[in-house]
Amino acid sequence: MPDEGPELEARLTEQEYFRPPTDFVGQANVTDPDIHERFDENYPEAFEEYAELLDWDEHWDEVLDDSNPPFYEWFTGGKLNASHNCIDRHLDERKNQAAIIWEGTDADESETITYQDLYNRVNAMAASLQDVDVREDDVVTCHLPMLPALPVTMLACARIGAPHSEVFAGFSAQALADRIDSADSDVVVTCDGYYRRGEFLNHKEKCDEALEAAESDVDTVLLWTREDELHPDVEIGEDDPYVLVDDLLADNERARVDPVSRDAEDPLFLMYTSGTTGQPKGCQHRTGGYLSYVTATSKNVLDIKPEDTYWCAADIGWITGHSYIVYGPLSLGTTSVMYEDTPDYPHKGRIWEIAERYDVDIFHTSPTAVRMFMKWGEEYVQDYDFDFRHMTTVGEPIQPEAWLWYYKYIGGEDAAIVDTWWQTETGGHLITNLPALDDMKPGSAGKAVPGIQPAIYDDNGDPIEPASGRAGNLVIEKPWPGMLQTVYGNDERFIEEYWQDFSDTDSDDPEDWVYKAGDGAVHGQDSYYRVLGRLDDVMNVAGHRLGTMELESAVAEVEDAAEAAVASREDAEKGEVPDVYVVLRDGIEPSEAVRDRIVSAVEDEIGKFARPANVIFCGDLPKTRSGKIMRRILENISNGEELGNTTTLRDPSVPEEIRDQVQGD
Ligand code: WT7
Repeated sequence: MPDEGPELEARLTEQEYFRPPTDFVGQANVTDPDIHERFDENYPEAFEEYAELLDWDEHWDEVLDDSNPPFYEWFTGGKLNASHNCIDRHLDERKNQAAIIWEGTDADESETITYQDLYNRVNAMAASLQDVDVREDDVVTCHLPMLPALPVTMLACARIGAPHSEVFAGFSAQALADRIDSADSDVVVTCDGYYRRGEFLNHKEKCDEALEAAESDVDTVLLWTREDELHPDVEIGEDDPYVLVDDLLADNERARVDPVSRDAEDPLFLMYTSGTTGQPKGCQHRTGGYLSYVTATSKNVLDIKPEDTYWCAADIGWITGHSYIVYGPLSLGTTSVMYEDTPDYPHKGRIWEIAERYDVDIFHTSPTAVRMFMKWGEEYVQDYDFDFRHMTTVGEPIQPEAWLWYYKYIGGEDAAIVDTWWQTETGGHLITNLPALDDMKPGSAGKAVPGIQPAIYDDNGDPIEPASGRAGNLVIEKPWPGMLQTVYGNDERFIEEYWQDFSDTDSDDPEDWVYKAGDGAVHGQDSYYRVLGRLDDVMNVAGHRLGTMELESAVAEVEDAAEAAVASREDAEKGEVPDVYVVLRDGIEPSEAVRDRIVSAVEDEIGKFARPANVIFCGDLPKTRSGKIMRRILENISNGEELGNTTTLRDPSVPEEIRDQVQGD
């Protein structure tokens, strides 16, 4: 372990930049310092390098068709299959190598799935999907937890050209129902249950409720089982549309399903994410551009090599897991680790125990997790013998202290670290250093990925000079292969949410179209970007994106509530947590029971992970003269700050009263 002396502490905390370790640089996938220039000078053709990492059935005609912005098309005319690229093409060289190592809740339970096993399972599942009439272009909604069933189902869908729409298992029945309806899925895939902190959780129940709540008529629900048989606590009613996956698989054990040759622009999957309205948006990702982009960034940014054991400790139910547990790593033919349960079950050393057991080389996590590990203390780490070469953080800004702790205690001061900024919409990393090329800077995501053109704009839509050190709106000025195609079924919303604010929407010149990320950022003199956080009504709770409007509409479901506003409160561990300010209907008194109803409404409409930190009953909400709720003022109250400018309010005494109530006087 590293030297613990005070000198080292001082050096660590004062130092602004950290060199990537020499050993790392010596073996890195990208060591050519001209890569940025090459991409800038040869845009967009340079992205062919990415596409060339894949097997194509037919070569593309054009790298980028930008004739109809913002509906850009990548590698047009090309044809390929994602499941072939993640599995079949590796069989000759590494059929016996582990593709996925799955570790269950119990340390005694694990599965090593070789590429050959994965091939067999995915083929059998693809045939099973066909048996229940899933056809090319049907959207299959999945609600699966961290079991091998999830990547197997995704890759089986990809094999037959049916876009999957995975809904994170922690989402509630209602959230699942909304997504089934939005995608109009006839077939849903779920499981009987899984383990949380060692306890079996009946997961099918959520699907039962979702089927009740959904408007769509779901024909079939494919039910995976966590154990060899249906769990005794879980029942299937006679008229239920459930079919046991195991029964179908048994019929298809030796099935071979030819991967469908998909157009590069055919959708691979949908991933719903929160925005500034009450309705989540289905980000639609294409096959060719997306797979090229995540494969290349897995190689260049995550430094994955086929012989590595790579562990991204995220959930596949979010974009991080899609891009960097499943598609990118498997496309490169590496070994990807997945773990079923929480990091502290049954003990706080569980993560490091797994890292030691499989001799993990590359480790990927979130700042929230790092803050939690830091709170638990380094003693849980020091018991285990593991040695990461490379580490990543994603999802939120990381505080320099947390970064230093990660560097020192998890990386042993000899691992390269990248802080990767990106979004569900962007498919893959957009801002991050290439680990061997640039020095690490705690708290900074770093430079743009090659070929990516970020910029900072002021609120009038004018570009702020590069490297100015001034905060503004983070935008991306040129399209990239991993970007979303559209919002599923809603091109207008795609334009409204991402383009309208900084583009000339009447123009068909791509130069006039600029992608709005929704984040604030600073571009420093060193050309490093520091991402500050969301500028819109979207919160980031433990690295999960939550729309304040979605939370507010959940609270509005409670009859006692007349009006509600949600404000984000800074939280030492989760980054941000939601505070709910609520005005009760006439005649309803604040009580624990009302509070519980509000909290349950959020859990039911969205999921437990969205649970409000505080419910604050107030007489009125701060509103402008035109009646718009000023969430910013509530946010200041939640964070113990000054109220700020209240002159535009209809009644400036309203926030003062709330403040006195929350902060005391
Ligand atoms: C939002 C996107 C990308 C996968 C996980 C989240 C924030 C993401 C960083 C980072 C600072 C970050 C942004 C972004 N974010 N990465 N490295 N530093 N902030 O995906 O749910 O689509 O959320 O997460 O605010 O807009 P997501």
